[in-house]
Amino acid sequence: MFKPKVFVARQIPEVGLELIRAACDADVWLERLPPSPEILRERVRDCDGLVSLLTDRVDAALLAAAPRLRVVSNFAVGVNNVDLVAASERSIPVGNTPGVLTEATADIAVTLLLAAARRLGESSTDAKEGRWLTWEPRGWLGADLVGRTVGIVGMGRIGHAVAKRLHFGWGMRVIYTARSPKPEIDAELGASAVSFDTLLTQSDFVSVHVDLNPTTKGMFGAAEFAKMKRSAVFVNTARGPHVDQVALAEALRSGAIFAAGLDVTEPEPLPADHELYKLPNCVIAPHIASATHDTRDAMATLCAANLLAGVRGERLPNCVNPSVYD
Ligand code: DGY
Repeated sequence: MFKPKVFVARQIPEVGLELIRAACDADVWLERLPPSPEILRERVRDCDGLVSLLTDRVDAALLAAAPRLRVVSNFAVGVNNVDLVAASERSIPVGNTPGVLTEATADIAVTLLLAAARRLGESSTDAKEGRWLTWEPRGWLGADLVGRTVGIVGMGRIGHAVAKRLHFGWGMRVIYTARSPKPEIDAELGASAVSFDTLLTQSDFVSVHVDLNPTTKGMFGAAEFAKMKRSAVFVNTARGPHVDQVALAEALRSGAIFAAGLDVTEPEPLPADHELYKLPNCVIAPHIASATHDTRDAMATLCAANLLAGVRGERLPNCVNPSVYD
């Protein structure tokens, strides 16, 4: 029986691999580190389908080198690693995994917010390294959450899930930016859409949830950090390039903002000697927002469903460039 040939650029959870192996002749990259661009190009050359990760650059050159390719299924909700214009020009549908990682990602955004606000990284390091001398009335003082204002930059699924946690959990006032008004969310959370400037100046906590594209790249630079409150906590679980990290480091060092919690950086991994690691008021996680057993299984299942639909010439359950079907 003919089986479409696919390349899976990493060992995704078994639940997804099983579905793929049952229907395809699957070449799975078994190394811990991603394939190099050259190896990736070589491996997809005669493939009908590709499962890519956010660490794999799927660009015009790669697509041109794979004339049989009928689908790219990205194991992520973000697709900034894929050249969507080039894929669309070749009528290749690109799939992603929205929805299934919303709650896990919102949990990490709130975790980072709390850790940064309550100086968890710094105090835990101090304890481990012998600087916990006694219970100090003025030691490791952080920021309160109850009744404060959170600014959600990008009120999509994940932004909404974060806003709900903070509003219902800590009674926070929610302000946000979004491409279009969200009257249901305004009614649900007493939230208001505001301008980006208003969000920066009024928020005690700023949490980033926009996708990465040319208009959002570098949207947090020196000018934006300068507008934020000196007591503000900045959280990014979206993509590293949203932030000018030199400006962020300076804002954290100078006290222009209070603290930051990052799940994403530029580059990834952030080199171990990077100055952001040296700042006690910066908590950094290694891009783990979707890293729960159930979430990664759900991502793998959805990713496999996109891949299998694509190699069969069916519409992808989650397609980010649906114009290919016009
Ligand atoms: C995504 O899916 O885009 C996330 O960044 C991975 O957790």
